[in-house]
Amino acid sequence: MTAGSCPVVYQVLYASRTNPALPRTVDLDILHTAWERNNTMALTGFLMRIGERYFQLLEGPPEAVGEVMASIRADDRHSDVQVLSEGEADQRRFSKWLMAYEDASDDDEGRMLQGWPIAEGAAETIVGLMQKHARGRAPSDMLRKPMT
Ligand SMILES: Cc1cc2nc3c(=O)[nH]c(=O)nc-3n(C[C@H](O)[C@H](O)[C@H](O)COP(=O)(O)O)c2cc1C
Repeated sequence: MTAGSCPVVYQVLYASRTNPALPRTVDLDILHTAWERNNTMALTGFLMRIGERYFQLLEGPPEAVGEVMASIRADDRHSDVQVLSEGEADQRRFSKWLMAYEDASDDDEGRMLQGWPIAEGAAETIVGLMQKHARGRAPSDMLRKPMT
């Protein structure tokens, strides 16, 4: 199944805490796995790092989202996975990206999301921030900033 032909779209938005013992280049390792597996499971989405937090929107067929979310929850490269919103949607938000990525640590709006736990009402702000960073970007431009 391709991303375009998925009849029911399920979306999960979560926040988690990065593992501070790991270098930032861990994000690239995560993305390589995500691009490969998401491609086989018709999943798309956006992974955003803000300081020591991850925010991820994962979308696609409900069973595929459930399966990959189980892997993500068990992954010790982060902790405290906190689902902020989930449910069926009319259409994908990030259909062009197997998993878009942005390090938004320097974004003024992003800086406001540093507390923990993240307020559930922040879901809209977080998705808005992802959309802002996705706007005008080509699918091939997944890594906005080089990770050092
Ligand atoms: C923050 C974060 C985001 C991730 N996003 C994805 C993703 O979008 N797709 C994916 O297949 N794996 C993702 N992973 C990796 C999974 O946790 C897991 O390592 C991978 O899917 C392989 O699954 P397995 O270990 O059950 O074989 C992510 C991991 C982390 C820490």
